[in-house]
Amino acid sequence: MAFTNNAMMRALFLLALVCAAQAGGKKDDAKKDDAGGDAKGGSCPDGTCDITKLGASGDGKTDSTKALQEAWASACGGTGKNTILIPKGDYLTGPLNYTGPCKGDVTIQVDGNLLASTDLSLYKGNWIEILRVENLVITGKGTLDGQGPSVWSKNSCAKKYDCKILPNSLVLDFITKGEVSGITLLNSKFFHMNVFQCKDVVIKDVTVTAPGDSPNTDGIHMGDSSGISIVNTVIGVGDDCISIGPGSTKINITGVTCGPGHGISIGSLGRYKDEKDVTDVSVKDCTLKKSTNGLRIKAYEDAASVLTASKIHYENVKMEDVGNPIIIDMKYCPNKICTSSGASKVTVKDVSFKNITGTSSTPEAVSLLCSDKIPCSGVTMDSVNVEYSGKNNKTMAVCKNAKVTATASLKELECA
Ligand SMILES: *[C@@H]1O[C@H](CO)[C@@H](O)[C@H](O)[C@H]1NC(C)=O
Ligand SMILES: *[C@@H]1O[C@H](CO)[C@@H](O)[C@H](O)[C@H]1NC(C)=O
Ligand SMILES: *[C@@H]1O[C@H](CO)[C@@H](O)[C@H](O)[C@H]1NC(C)=O
Ligand SMILES: *[C@@H]1O[C@H](CO)[C@@H](O)[C@H](O)[C@H]1NC(C)=O
Repeated sequence: MAFTNNAMMRALFLLALVCAAQAGGKKDDAKKDDAGGDAKGGSCPDGTCDITKLGASGDGKTDSTKALQEAWASACGGTGKNTILIPKGDYLTGPLNYTGPCKGDVTIQVDGNLLASTDLSLYKGNWIEILRVENLVITGKGTLDGQGPSVWSKNSCAKKYDCKILPNSLVLDFITKGEVSGITLLNSKFFHMNVFQCKDVVIKDVTVTAPGDSPNTDGIHMGDSSGISIVNTVIGVGDDCISIGPGSTKINITGVTCGPGHGISIGSLGRYKDEKDVTDVSVKDCTLKKSTNGLRIKAYEDAASVLTASKIHYENVKMEDVGNPIIIDMKYCPNKICTSSGASKVTVKDVSFKNITGTSSTPEAVSLLCSDKIPCSGVTMDSVNVEYSGKNNKTMAVCKNAKVTATASLKELECA
């Protein structure tokens, strides 16, 4: 769903600024060890901070928060390369505050499973939050299990526009140069991964899994970030597999499989003030399976900010029984709880679809629903071949206020 997150991220940004200011002003206080211990202290011999040597227990029941937090203090406070090792086992933990900047480079080696505490009173915000780190690596074959099933019933976002947000699982804020690889994100309480104000982050060979009907369990959301790549990743969740929020530029999605879920989305756009443009997005070699949407751009009709989404390229995408395989929805209004006076301020232009094939579970394989005030422009379709898979109807393209150049099979549809 993506919309609920920005306000929280803003608040967090402000909080981070306040914290940074305070930390800067009190540099000489005796408590400086709090921000990062010293790796030479013995907890990270040879640069490896094994959480079981710091008191963590892999029995799935003992609270290992303290060990995980201490491991960060040591790894982040040490120079050179330091690794937090999470060995095989199940480690129960509350929220983790992994704040940098760090003295050296930190790798989090996830061989075991982290289980998020189900006690919501422990959380001020997210579950695992990593802030202001350069050269961060999170890798391994382990799992970050948000244990969402026990709290999903407390999600009220389908009813309330400004709902209380449950903790996101893995949050990366202000990370420059990062890699998340190999791991599985399972059953987050809210979003599985949120990328905010990051630069040059690669997410690859990751698996994200939650039931198709779990609320707001977006796979990977990003905003105000550039140079984000998502490669060879399998996502099946209850909301957007990937959502590319305002302020995203130079985004590269390659080899992603999505489904169940709400598709690979740009947006939602226009919900908040001061949103920035989305530009240079490439989605290539992806497969969507039984998702409710395929390739989607969505914006609120009553947008609170003026912005543009442009230079968006989709290529070699396969649809298997997808609800709305191609949809630009400039009147987006989830759960019908927004206003719509038709005052759209969001521009969509230069969007190309090339070699999009497969099947649609609804007759409308293509829906371009743009606003009369700002029509969508520069939409091109080359070899778009998506067929309605049901009976008693034909494949359709519905276009409102969109200027489309179509070649190959879409010619016979009425968009061009
Ligand atoms: C996280 O840790 C940083 C640095 O130690 C601190 O400044 C900040 O207040 C902490 N944030 C929260 C939410 O506890
Ligand atoms: C996107 O990522 C793929 C896989 O790593 C790479 O081959 C491709 O060059 C990247 N494209 C852009 C535009 O960065
Ligand atoms: C079209 O995309 C499919 C993947 O969906 C790929 O296998 C095929 O080679 C592509 N065709 C061309 C002509 O690039
Ligand atoms: C075909 O699909 C369109 C669009 O969903 C719908 O309006 C129409 O009623 C359908 N026709 C039949 C015969 O079901």
